[in-house]
Amino acid sequence: MKNPKEDAAAPVPGPLKIRIDGKEREFDIDDPKLPAWVEDNKLTAGGYPYDKKMNSDEYDEALERLQIELVKAQAWLQSTGKRVMSLFEGRDAAGKGGTIFALRQYMNPRTARNVALTKPSPTELGQWYFQRYVAHFPTSGEFVTFDRSWYNRAGVEPVMGFCTPEQHEKFLDETPYFERMICNEGIHFFKFWLNIGRETQLERFHDRRWSPLKSWKFSPIDIAGITKWDDYTKARDLMFERTHEEFAPWIIVRANDKRRARLAIIRRILLSLPYDGRDLDAIGKEDKKIIGEGPSFLG
Ligand code: ADP
Ligand code: AMP
Ligand code: MLT
Repeated sequence: MKNPKEDAAAPVPGPLKIRIDGKEREFDIDDPKLPAWVEDNKLTAGGYPYDKKMNSDEYDEALERLQIELVKAQAWLQSTGKRVMSLFEGRDAAGKGGTIFALRQYMNPRTARNVALTKPSPTELGQWYFQRYVAHFPTSGEFVTFDRSWYNRAGVEPVMGFCTPEQHEKFLDETPYFERMICNEGIHFFKFWLNIGRETQLERFHDRRWSPLKSWKFSPIDIAGITKWDDYTKARDLMFERTHEEFAPWIIVRANDKRRARLAIIRRILLSLPYDGRDLDAIGKEDKKIIGEGPSFLG
């Protein structure tokens, strides 16, 4: 859980000068009016393949069919004792939390857990880096989601200076071995990267800043990240290069439209689990413009 005091202490940054697609822009999160260039590009930013959000009726209908399948998949986990673990990564405001919400909405909360760890405590800092995550791994029959994960050491930590370059490098080196062990255990392991465009992120930060229902999501890290877009891009690309493995591929989802992204992710999980009574018709086909694997997907 995020510490609300930390949110309250968020600095008021004033207008930020940022360069997007070769244009100098000014963005003031404290101005209640969203600039037109953000509004106009929030869906299409970063080369998004659609210029309209998915229609909400179409989304609700597809989601419900998928959620019914998830309930069946969960029954199968219970009867076979199999385990699922799915990591959700992406920039701030990529939509990780909402996706996890949709995924778990109708699942039995006793055996579908979400793990969203805060920054490491002094005790945790003295432990093996992976240790605090391992403590939350699934037992038989469990479906565990991670809202952020050990991949903090490939993103926010090196970008914000919370780890040393040596720790970052060691992480990139060791993570494939760590994940090899997870897969050898027979855990169904997924790692999703939710990819958003720059204006998409700004629009969502602005929404968080001004919505009383979403302000709890808004953190100083978000503000600091606005001007660190390119550093995060570099960190992401290096992470893909070093940790995209045949046994543990990065599944990349274009997530400017939350609806399409959520459906694509749930669909991918269902298509990867051989549960009893799987209804391929209800699951539907993957949209290859939205979901793909590895660094080449983003071109
Ligand atoms: P979230 O995006 O998960 O809502 P934040 O944007 O505040 O939360 O932080 C992003 C991530 O950075 C979180 O996983 C948080 O635990 C991590 N983080 C924040 N501060 C530190 C720190 N000092 N050292 C290591 N990790 C940190
Ligand atoms: P978002 O900011 O859109 O990613 O949404 C995140 C939060 O919105 C979640 O933590 C939920 O509280 C809520 N939410 C997301 N999806 C749904 C949904 N399908 N129905 C109801 N509430 C939702
Ligand atoms: C998201 O919406 O992507 C996350 O749940 C919250 C965040 O990292 O900003």
